[in-house]
Amino acid sequence: MLLPEMKASKKRTNKDFDYINYEVNPTSFGEGKTYFVLTYGCQMNERDGENIKAILENMGYVEGKDIYSVDVAILNTCAVRENAHNKVFGMLGRLKHEKDFRDFIIGMCGCMPQEESVANELLEKHKYVDLVFGTHNINNLSNLIKEAYDSRQIEVYSKEGEVVEGLPIKRMSNIKALVNIMYGCDKFCTYCIVPYTRGAERSRKKEDIINEITELKENGYKEVTLLGQNVNAYGKDIKGYITFGDLLKLVSDTGIERIRFLTSHPWDFDDKMIDIIAERKNIMPYVHLPLQSGSDEILKKMGRRYTQKEYLDLAKKIRDKIPRVSITTDIIVGFPNESEKDFEETLKVVNEVKYDSAFTFIYSKREGTPAALMEDDVLKCEKEKRLSSLNEIVNKYALENNEKYINKKVKVLFENIHPKDSSLVTGYSDTGKLVNAKGDESVIGMIKEVLIEDVKSFSMNGKIV
Ligand code: 5AD
Ligand code: SF4
Repeated sequence: MLLPEMKASKKRTNKDFDYINYEVNPTSFGEGKTYFVLTYGCQMNERDGENIKAILENMGYVEGKDIYSVDVAILNTCAVRENAHNKVFGMLGRLKHEKDFRDFIIGMCGCMPQEESVANELLEKHKYVDLVFGTHNINNLSNLIKEAYDSRQIEVYSKEGEVVEGLPIKRMSNIKALVNIMYGCDKFCTYCIVPYTRGAERSRKKEDIINEITELKENGYKEVTLLGQNVNAYGKDIKGYITFGDLLKLVSDTGIERIRFLTSHPWDFDDKMIDIIAERKNIMPYVHLPLQSGSDEILKKMGRRYTQKEYLDLAKKIRDKIPRVSITTDIIVGFPNESEKDFEETLKVVNEVKYDSAFTFIYSKREGTPAALMEDDVLKCEKEKRLSSLNEIVNKYALENNEKYINKKVKVLFENIHPKDSSLVTGYSDTGKLVNAKGDESVIGMIKEVLIEDVKSFSMNGKIV
């Protein structure tokens, strides 16, 4: 049994980590049995889910149709806000109830078990959870599962170990793929649990990234999203290594049709990156640039390392240099002691940048982070009011930005038949807009020009030309 410690997870000492190769040894251990992985949270978790599924399939398990009916039910969890946490405990309650009727393995992984308090709660109070593993323990999953049939298995390392290459993967799509370029985060924004749950920044080697993308291209993939908590810091953890701008160039040279990347931190966003995005046709004109707050006072308390002015200058530079660029963001309202004036500074930035869209959140206290110790005199109802007035403005700009596309042509990579109307196909434009158009299976996986006819805040409709 190995439980995590927040204090240990905060330490950044292991800077000379190794790269190791996972050896795939298919077995028949799970033959005749089913599994289901339910993933919450961000793309990083989705990407982990793809490895977890493949590891199980290499043991002979087959994917079942839902979480309630399988032999191994795994919750791949998110810890970033309390509501995600509550949803997972709600689901655990339902699975516990199911266990009254039949025997099966309940597993929990992802960011929640990396929290000391959650790991202890699972240990003491939720004894029906048979298998608990952390974000740094995925490569030991096949052993843990085998042993979980005999005794409860809890393995959560506080700190990252090696960068593991060669984990098997069951991708969710055969059109677009998520590609990790780095793991972890060293920024320690004061509200955020991620540096504790995902460990120190560790970049993958450029050769491994390029080989993965080349192989995806050879297998017909049209789009890759390069993933990291803070992609602009790529390479900074390896001596004498290349920067994210250089990596983008190499990825662009593979000739894959579309490249996106998530998430950028305004602090490390340099001119070289902007130039390369502007220059290369296969790097999509789309930048997700989390603002978090527009108030210098709050930004300082958040430990964000930029001022409102620096952020606005950067956003302007991005708009000026990258034609047609779409800029999206993340914003937190109600950070401890955020005043009405602080909130207005956030609105000021929104009114200036006119984001294409924004993910907006009410601050959620995360135990073990510095912000959790800050006093907070802002009432919950005040925070809710701020969130709804922010959303109103965000939606207005989203619609206004989309209206500019009416009677214009956009390039769309079609991915699916529309779930509610089988005469429509859906996909995303180069600028990251969700587009619906009349069409059938034959266009799925293809990039087509679409003439936009009408738009909403979150989607557009048009016809393939
Ligand atoms: N409370 C609210 N939102 C948070 N985020 C991260 N931590 C918290 C928190 N404690 C938001 C940030 C981040 C996004 C992924 O989640 O906006 O960019
Ligand atoms: Fe969290 Fe800040 Fe790191 Fe993003 S950059 S994962 S918000 S600590």
